Amino acid sequence: MNTHKIALLDGDGIGPEIMAEAVKILNLVAERNQVNFKLESGAFGATAYFSHGNSFPDETKALCDSADAILKGPIGLSHEDSKKIPVDMQPERGALLPLRRRYDTFANFRPVYLPKDIAHFSPLKAEVIGDGIDFIIIRELVGGLYFGNKETGVTESGKRFVTESLEYDEDQIARIARVAFETAQKRQGVLHNIHKSNVLKSSVLWNEVMEEVGRDFPDVQIRHILVDAAATYLCLNPGQFDVMVMENMFGDILSDQGGGILGSLGLMPSACMGPNKAYYEPSHGSAPDIAGQKIANPYSMIGSVAMMLEMSFGMDSEARNVWQAMQSVFAQGFSTPDLSKPESDVKMISTDGFGDLVAEELSKL
Ligand code: NAD
Ligand code: IPM
Ligand code: MN
Repeated sequence: MNTHKIALLDGDGIGPEIMAEAVKILNLVAERNQVNFKLESGAFGATAYFSHGNSFPDETKALCDSADAILKGPIGLSHEDSKKIPVDMQPERGALLPLRRRYDTFANFRPVYLPKDIAHFSPLKAEVIGDGIDFIIIRELVGGLYFGNKETGVTESGKRFVTESLEYDEDQIARIARVAFETAQKRQGVLHNIHKSNVLKSSVLWNEVMEEVGRDFPDVQIRHILVDAAATYLCLNPGQFDVMVMENMFGDILSDQGGGILGSLGLMPSACMGPNKAYYEPSHGSAPDIAGQKIANPYSMIGSVAMMLEMSFGMDSEARNVWQAMQSVFAQGFSTPDLSKPESDVKMISTDGFGDLVAEELSKL
């Protein structure tokens, strides 16, 4: 029997609530497929800072090092509560970015997907959505402003200043470009490259390298779009996109907009792939506004499990079953409150209610 060790990092806020549903599905998948998932939890995030004095404790690093894949819940605190932790130890800077750096998870896949029969979840009009929304954002995850040089200080005239640099070299751009072209090749053969080369020199180099790598993929058409215009097109005509590639911060912002056009960030899973290790997490945050209420949508977390099954364990057909099970739950008129307008006739369910129904549907497949 195949054994895969999976590190579970619950994280903060709604993290433990949605992780419980992901574990429910992982256990069912193990049962159905004669595969053994060795699940081990590690402290990570603000919770870990308060319990261990470190938001990414050494024992969690060791656990992740020894795991075949990592499943991570969202981390972070509300704006006010964040102030209880020193800036550099806050879980975003103290845990999440170090996790990405440790495993060099440069390729972040953020699917934005809403089939036609549940298109009513979207705030966009039916005529804008057409046959549904289906594209993928490929976000470079370990470069750019997030990881560039930073300096803070006080000028000679006593003014506080900060400098942060947006850094990329051609190798960093080429490797994400290859991932994006390969993905486009497997899908519709069109790659939208999102950039800001009218201002940023980093985008000038980015575009040059994109074109160079593109020569190895003559069957993929590359289309360059400025990031500000891309934000508009996502609302006015999302159907034109199939695969989008962009640098780290553009990808952070446009992927949340992706969640917006679906109707909820709760519909946004993701995969973060490095050369030797991958981790999987929802694209959204810890949702402090709804934490503890058992109303968070676990789709993003269960979808991250589906991505793990496919991308880390080669269990493609079971991954498809998990997606299908979630879509069946929606198709029967159920949803968590994030997707339901009070006047709609959606049958409102809790976080664990959604997980139970997904498990039930999966058992039928
Ligand atoms: P957020 O993504 O946590 O929440 C934005 C909105 O989306 C909220 O209204 C929230 O209730 C809703 N939402 C998000 N996920 C949902 C789900 N699964 N079901 C239903 N509704 C959902 O963004 P924020 O409030 O700006 O950030 C909160 C914290 O999360 C911050 O500390 C931030 O740094 C952190 N964060 C972490 C990650 C991560 O771990 N990868 C990602 C983004 C933000
Ligand atoms: C995300 C988050 C992170 C990012 C933060 C929490 C560091 O917003 O995964 O999208 O900006 O990358
Ligand atoms: Mn984000």
